[in-house]
Amino acid sequence: MKQSINFSWNYVEDFRDEYLDEFPQNKQVVDIPHSVMQLPYNYFDEKCYQKVVTYQKVFDVAENIADKIVILRFEAFMVQAQIYLNDVCLGNFVSLYNPVEINVTKQIKQKSNKLIVVLDAREDATLPPFGLAVDYLTFGGIYREVSVNVYPKLYVEKSLVHGDMYGKIHVKNVVKGDTDTEYQITYQVVFNDEVVAESNQSEFVVSNVSLWDIDTPNLYLLKTTLQSKHGVSVYQTAFGFRTVEFTDKGFFLNGKRVKLVGLNRHQSYPHVGYAMPKSAQIDDANTLKYQAGISVVRTSHYPQSQHFLDRCDQIGLMVINEIPGWQHISKKERWRNQYYQNVASMVTEEYNHPCLIAHGVRIDESADDYELYQKGNQIAHEIDPFRPTLGVRNFTNSQLLEDIYAYNDFVCDDMSIGLIPPSKVKTHKKPYLVTEYMGHMMPTKATDSSTQRIRHALRHAKVLDDNLKHKNTTGCIGWCFADYYTHVDFGSGDHICPHGVFDMYRNPKYASAIYLSQQEKTPVMEVLTNMCPGDFVKATYQDIYVATNADYVELYQNDKFANRFYPNRKQFKYLAHPPILIDDLVGDAFQDERFSVRDKKTIAKLLSYGACYGVDKLIAKYALTLGLLKLKYKLTFADVWDMYS
Ligand code: GAL
Repeated sequence: MKQSINFSWNYVEDFRDEYLDEFPQNKQVVDIPHSVMQLPYNYFDEKCYQKVVTYQKVFDVAENIADKIVILRFEAFMVQAQIYLNDVCLGNFVSLYNPVEINVTKQIKQKSNKLIVVLDAREDATLPPFGLAVDYLTFGGIYREVSVNVYPKLYVEKSLVHGDMYGKIHVKNVVKGDTDTEYQITYQVVFNDEVVAESNQSEFVVSNVSLWDIDTPNLYLLKTTLQSKHGVSVYQTAFGFRTVEFTDKGFFLNGKRVKLVGLNRHQSYPHVGYAMPKSAQIDDANTLKYQAGISVVRTSHYPQSQHFLDRCDQIGLMVINEIPGWQHISKKERWRNQYYQNVASMVTEEYNHPCLIAHGVRIDESADDYELYQKGNQIAHEIDPFRPTLGVRNFTNSQLLEDIYAYNDFVCDDMSIGLIPPSKVKTHKKPYLVTEYMGHMMPTKATDSSTQRIRHALRHAKVLDDNLKHKNTTGCIGWCFADYYTHVDFGSGDHICPHGVFDMYRNPKYASAIYLSQQEKTPVMEVLTNMCPGDFVKATYQDIYVATNADYVELYQNDKFANRFYPNRKQFKYLAHPPILIDDLVGDAFQDERFSVRDKKTIAKLLSYGACYGVDKLIAKYALTLGLLKLKYKLTFADVWDMYS
């Protein structure tokens, strides 16, 4: 039985030895997930949360613990902690982004347990991702849930289950406790609350399965029952039936080619850093699926909340994970051993999620390191023989020890090119995936001018266009989902990196509409301008775009039809729904009977040009046409100004 112990912890923002005996009076009462401090929105010193703090929790165990094994489980805390239970030191535990499980059978009591966690939230150069500069912050705190788990003396800790598109199931169990005892294991597969298969074999086939797919994310339940003289232990997990293939001809889900389009996600939030509960993790998955319409998310650059992955399973959002790190590899033994442990923990913990399509086992943008990555790949493959590995690099001609060649392609610095043609990258004939683009190539804040936000959106569109042009690549994943807190050297000097297509509060920037408008399920029509002249240079509107999946849009001026506009296929040849350029704001809405039909059209064009690019530009470009019209219709300057206004 799992008992959550997330509420009413005592907390102080420092540590002294005497706290182990008596918790100070000035404690705060806090709930988990918890951040060691509330952060200002920006401009803070990242050392402020890097301190040693103390948590205390007093609790009873609801289930009878006599003759049972009791495991204390922390889903994650940052960075490491000295943990005490009932005045016994259990040891120093490193979590970072991994769960920590401690067998407390000897120390636990039925009632009035006193748990103390002395948490050290300081960056530690002997552990990844630390050791050099890192473009993200690692907020201190017990930032994921804590539970007490009571098991029989022999139990199934986890069943690692894989189901393919043919209904074949493969199960591997982690059995713990008195493993010398005889035991029997049986499996039940449940779908829509009905048992659809039973077996006592670790490989069996379920007939007529409903596949897990992007649009139909069908989830099954596997119930593993272990029986022994110690009693019955039951483990349950959601899983899905699906087959994932990365090839040099593209990515296939259940035999169908899917061009991957995605965004990278940091799991940090304003003010609380990492300490956001289940509801917010669910919200992020929903935002990516329904407000950006993407098919895949990369959990850059560390394993993320199980709630986030659960939600991705439920809504059909594919995931590529990644171990903690950023560019740097240390020679220190502790660091390297932690890397191996990070790979093993991530692959095991995330194994059952059908949404997960590949394991990212190389430190993001790091140099080649044969020893480290050969072993990292081996660990991943041994635990999970079904999923490919990938390694994200930012230079070509690197060693390829993974199954997928993943590359951060930052070539797009204008509208002439979105992505490097794959023939120019040495992909070793392996499946090719672009794992990052844009980002620092065009930092854009949600509060930047419309012009900047439109350019940002169009660059994303350019990359997505090239993604489709390069037929045999598996896809591309943009940098990044939302703005994030970072070290001062990286963001815009205020500890925020404004590279998201959403801001830190998950408000959409224009670029997000480009992504959303590529799907067919929800109608999208987002006008990429606020039409506030004060937001534009010279108070002129410049190029106005509409991100939409409509076949065309019509413009009306004060209820009068002005013009109809179509997707800009000249500029974006491959997109399903190129953004639409509105290059005439007046059109048929200009109905002044003084002028011939042809001249009305010309005048409308000129007026629109003036509004978008400035009267000075208009005069310079169309001086002759303007002059002739003035002569022909005997127009004064005041007449022209009237029409313009
Ligand atoms: C990449 C890196 C990301 C982020 C991004 C900024 O090189 O992998 O973590 O720093 O640059 O654009």
